[in-house]
Amino acid sequence: MRVLVAGGAGYIGSHTCKALAEAGHLPIVYDNLHTGHAWAVKWGPLERGDLNDAATLGAAMKRHRPEAVINFAALAYVGESTREPTMYYRVNVGGMVGLLEAMRANDVARIVFSSSCATYGVPARVPIVEDMPQAPINPYGNTKLVGEMLLRDACAAHGVAAVALRYFNAAGADAAGEAGEEHDPETHLIPLVLQAAAGQRPDIAVFGTDYDTPDGTCIRDYIHVTDLASAHVAALSACAPGRFQAFNLGTGIGASINEIIALSRRVTGKPIAAKAAPRRAGDPPRLVADPALAGRTLGWRAAHSDPENIIRTAWQWMTVHRQRALPGGKG
Ligand SMILES: NC(=O)c1ccc[n+]([C@@H]2O[C@H](COP(=O)([O-])OP(=O)(O)OC[C@H]3O[C@@H](n4cnc5c(N)ncnc54)[C@H](O)[C@@H]3O)[C@@H](O)[C@H]2O)c1
Repeated sequence: MRVLVAGGAGYIGSHTCKALAEAGHLPIVYDNLHTGHAWAVKWGPLERGDLNDAATLGAAMKRHRPEAVINFAALAYVGESTREPTMYYRVNVGGMVGLLEAMRANDVARIVFSSSCATYGVPARVPIVEDMPQAPINPYGNTKLVGEMLLRDACAAHGVAAVALRYFNAAGADAAGEAGEEHDPETHLIPLVLQAAAGQRPDIAVFGTDYDTPDGTCIRDYIHVTDLASAHVAALSACAPGRFQAFNLGTGIGASINEIIALSRRVTGKPIAAKAAPRRAGDPPRLVADPALAGRTLGWRAAHSDPENIIRTAWQWMTVHRQRALPGGKG
C-alpha cells in the first residue's frame, strides 16, 4: 500500500515509516518540519507541507495517490496547549479537518490516527479500558478527543474506515539506530533522565513524591516506539469501511518515576541526581493501559517494551547513533 504519513518526520512517525517499509508498504511523508526532521525521512519520499495548506496537501495526494493515511501531525506539548489553545485547535483539529477533506476529494477512505491517553483525563481506575469515560483536562487532550469525534462522524457520513490509537508514554528508539527521539524542548521523562546521565542537565526533577503509590512517585505506562510502529501497520489492516475503532497502546504494567531513574542509573552506569519538586496540577498518580483489545483485535503485543530495553535503546540513540543521524554528524 502507498501510505501518506502526515507527521512522518517526527519521533513516532519515523519509526512507523520504517515498520511500514519493512512490511512492504511505501510511506510518503507529509510534514511541515515544525518539530520533525528531514534526516528522519529515510523510507520513502518527503513532501514538505502543512496540513492546513489545502493546495499543497491536495497536490501531494494527487501526485502519490495514497491508499491510506496515518496522521501523526500535531502539536503535543500539554503546557504550551494551556497557554496557546487556539494554536493547538488550529493545528490538531484544523489539520485533521483538512486531511479528511483532502482524503474525500481523492477517494482515500482509510485512516489511522495518533490519539492519546490524555483523552481519558484523570481516570477513575486503572488499568484503563477503551470504553471508560473520556474527559481530558487540558487543551491538548481536548484536541485529541475532537480528532476522534471528527473521525467517528466521517465514518458515519462518508464510510471512512478509521482507527484511533491511544498511546500511553512513547519511549525508546529503533534498536538498529536508524531513528530516535529528538525533541526541543524535551519534556518526556526518559530522555530527560538520560540527559542528566549524559551530563547535559544537572539533575532530574521528580514532581510529587507523596502520591498514594508504593514509592510515592507517579506511575506511567511506557511503550516502546517500535511497538507503537508495529501497531500502526496492524491497524491499517484492521480498518473497516464505516467503522470507527479505538485501541489503547500500552503494556498494562506501569513503572514509577523513581523506578525509571534507578533503572537508568543501572543501564547507563552513570550517577543521576534526582531532585524532589512539588506536584504538578493535573498529573494523575497512575496512568496504565489495558491493552487487551488491541491484542485481541490487532493481534498486537508490546514485544519490546520492558523498561530496561526502552532505556537501553534510548541511551544508545542518544550516545551513539544520534551523532551519525544529525546533519553534519560524524559518519
Ligand atoms: N510522544 C508521545 O508520548 C505521545 C503520546 C500520545 C500521543 N502522541 C501523539 O503522537 C503523535 C506523534 O508524536 P511525536 O512524539 O512523534 O511528535 P513529533 O513532534 O515528533 O511529531 C509530530 C510531527 O508532525 C509534524 N507536524 C506538526 N504540525 C504539522 C502540520 N500542521 N502539518 C504538517 N506536519 C505537522 C511535525 O513537524 C512532526 O514531524 C502526535 O500526534 C502526538 O500528539 C504522542
